Amino acid sequence: MSFETLRAYEQTNAVCKPFLDKPSTGFALDAHIKFLESSLKPFPAPYTVLDASKTWIIYWELVSLALLGRLTDDVKEQAVHTLATFRGPNGGFTNGLGHKEHILTTYAAVLSICLCNNSEAYDLIDKKRLLDWLMSLRNADGSFRVHDEGECDSRASYAAVCIAYLVDGVNYPHLFDGTLDWLLQCQTYEGGFAGNPGTEAHGGYTFCSLAAISVLNGSSRVRRIPLARWLTQRQDAILGGLSGRTNKLVDGCYSWWVGASVNLFALEANSDSDTRPLIKSEKLQEYIYQCCQPATGGLRDKPPKPADLYHTCYCLLGLSSIAHNYRLVDNRVHAQNSSSPRYDDYPSLQPAHPVCCVPVNDAESMITHFSSLQC
Ligand code: FPP
Repeated sequence: MSFETLRAYEQTNAVCKPFLDKPSTGFALDAHIKFLESSLKPFPAPYTVLDASKTWIIYWELVSLALLGRLTDDVKEQAVHTLATFRGPNGGFTNGLGHKEHILTTYAAVLSICLCNNSEAYDLIDKKRLLDWLMSLRNADGSFRVHDEGECDSRASYAAVCIAYLVDGVNYPHLFDGTLDWLLQCQTYEGGFAGNPGTEAHGGYTFCSLAAISVLNGSSRVRRIPLARWLTQRQDAILGGLSGRTNKLVDGCYSWWVGASVNLFALEANSDSDTRPLIKSEKLQEYIYQCCQPATGGLRDKPPKPADLYHTCYCLLGLSSIAHNYRLVDNRVHAQNSSSPRYDDYPSLQPAHPVCCVPVNDAESMITHFSSLQC
């Protein structure tokens, strides 16, 4: 570890420790709802830097409200109205005027449509054109580009798999030829997965790879022991929070990227000894409660940073992932409340689908709706 890394690590511990030593605050449900409601109003001018993330902002807002059981028909109607203006010429989605269709923008739009869970929203998707467009982004080795001339990494492959899983059950001929082999090459010597073969393992890319590999039925080909070790090493022994990679700092968002990877690992376990928890979920919950909930509501990376919609979304998804147990029945995900009494203070948090990053019920409704539509 370099001197600079060690100093950043020690500073983080020094800032977080007093928050962990305070009496537990519990889950600040009302403050989070207020934060999310205030985020429905027009944003101030400095937010123009997020112009290329408009679809993501809609998704982060909708999924946070949905997990808390507060997504209203009125908000869904506004979202559908806006997303209708983001439909691109080839079946994908853009961020509005002047923006190209992009696979990650399309992923955020499709998940937002899924969260709206009604026919007006579903009608925004032209299934055949969307799948044809995904096919146009496929590289010869089975990986995907983020747009026609864009970069290629495991986020793009995951987005393609997740979109296809929701609208087509990954049945489109040859769309994922080679994708599983390419994703398996992203597992590194450390055990986690990188964005591309030969680069550094990271929690975000590990989630993307494991989720896509799970849908493509390739989990038995993952090297499980190094993966288990790497996932376990993501939990900071002192703070309880999770980091995204070796020698880096804890961040609330990895409660989902790494936490969901742990759930995907357990989902594919084939023996009891294989399902021993890889992280201490009560310690993670304590990190989120004590360090990621500023008094203003919303959730954050770590103190003293402010809350934002990205961290609110992935901290809530992370809390949901530790509040539920998941199992596969006939290749469909089923969730049940975790037996731990510690989770009783947020009983209304919906179970999140470990692949699709939306409540399980919304993913299931969308899959059922689109499976009855011909391509
Ligand atoms: C490092 O940031 C972040 C990355 C290398 C990418 C992370 C990838 C994801 C979060 C997954 C995204 C998934 C989809 C579906 C778009 P950093 O260096 O600021 O953070 P770190 O110090 O924690 O590594």
